[in-house]
Amino acid sequence: MRKVIAIFGTRPEAIKMAPVITELRKSRDLDLRVCVTAQHRGILDQVLSLFAITPDHDLDLMLPNQTLDQLTARLLSGVGQVLDEEKPDLVLVHGDTTTTLSSSLAAFYRKLPVGHVEAGLRSGSLHAPFPEEMNRRVTTLATRFHFTPTERSRQNLLAEAVDASHIHLTGNTVIDALIETVARLKAAPETRAALERQFGYLDSSLPLVLVTGHRRENFGPGFESICRAMIDIVTQNDVQIVYPVHPNPNVLEPVERLLGSHPRIHLIDPLDYEPFVFLMERSYIIITDSGGVQEEAPSLGKPVLVMRDTTERPEAVDAGTVILVGTSRERIVSEANRLLNDRAHYARMAQAMNPYGDGQAAKRIRAVIEEQA
Ligand code: UD1
Ligand code: UDP
Repeated sequence: MRKVIAIFGTRPEAIKMAPVITELRKSRDLDLRVCVTAQHRGILDQVLSLFAITPDHDLDLMLPNQTLDQLTARLLSGVGQVLDEEKPDLVLVHGDTTTTLSSSLAAFYRKLPVGHVEAGLRSGSLHAPFPEEMNRRVTTLATRFHFTPTERSRQNLLAEAVDASHIHLTGNTVIDALIETVARLKAAPETRAALERQFGYLDSSLPLVLVTGHRRENFGPGFESICRAMIDIVTQNDVQIVYPVHPNPNVLEPVERLLGSHPRIHLIDPLDYEPFVFLMERSYIIITDSGGVQEEAPSLGKPVLVMRDTTERPEAVDAGTVILVGTSRERIVSEANRLLNDRAHYARMAQAMNPYGDGQAAKRIRAVIEEQA
């Protein structure tokens, strides 16, 4: 039996790898091992428990506010040891984090083939998102099986002279995870009732603005500006903001200092995936710098303002459900005000559409691995 090891370490990787793990576990031809680096701890464990994933290896690598150098070095040697022990036939990584970079490099050093889930995303700028654009480019070089979410990401790889027969257009597994979670919520009225109680502090008469943010290139002045924009939005409109705050200290500090005391801004701990999906469904608009949220919100028909200057996920921008607003306070506020006050504009942006997948990505990835890896 061929041995496949899936390696990941952060919240979004776990959410997007979970459907692949579920599929690969069903295979009679494959022996699946799961290694978590625990680059994240609390917000990774939330996802592992929701999707009932028990790792075979847990490197437990998170340290408070560690530098990229420390993190990369510790990941590389930790993952290397696991690969030496497991001797897999295929190493599966996801996306663009430092775990992705280090795991694909550790596999390359052992001449092991890599399967890259969510391959081919490109912003065109090595510094945005930072360091993710570099991470995904390096991972591409080490990869044998490129699982691209969209035709555009396939084209990006072809433009870099990746062999066409090594690229597999699968859709994004985040849509698999989202569809499954929405269906689970729909089928469980008692869970919905519990979630209504969890968010009982929300005012049902006020539109909900859901906010998330964590990008490194926004640390410092970017986050200061984002926070001031949030205050302007609640001051100028009858709305409420819910903001599950990312645990990175560079995010927590300015957010708590600047937004901690406004009665219509609710700063909360990071949410489990189910409650977060529930809140996305319940929201009127979403303001974020997250990659995953940018992909999920369009399929829920929610307009998204993305607090970045560039995106490697241009599909929903082209389709009109996402607007890039950067971190300028004035721009964020003017675009939010327009959505909150111009019904026709809102209706144009709120078209549910799904450029990122059809919920079958993990099945396609499994088929390729079973047939070719
Ligand atoms: C990481 C990824 C980023 C991804 C994001 C998703 C890198 C360099 N960055 O950013 O690509 O978009 O995850 O969320 O790979 N922390 C906790 N608890 C947690 C998680 C983090 O306290 O569960 C704190 C720790 O102090 C940690 C810090 O956040 O050192 C930064 O974590 P790190 O994984 O380095 O970067 P993120 O900003 O989370
Ligand atoms: N998410 C979550 N709880 C939260 C915020 C986000 O479960 O409190 C989910 C979200 O639905 C998406 C993923 O986490 O699937 C995005 O993670 P993040 O924004 O941390 O990383 P990125 O996608 O930007 O790499």
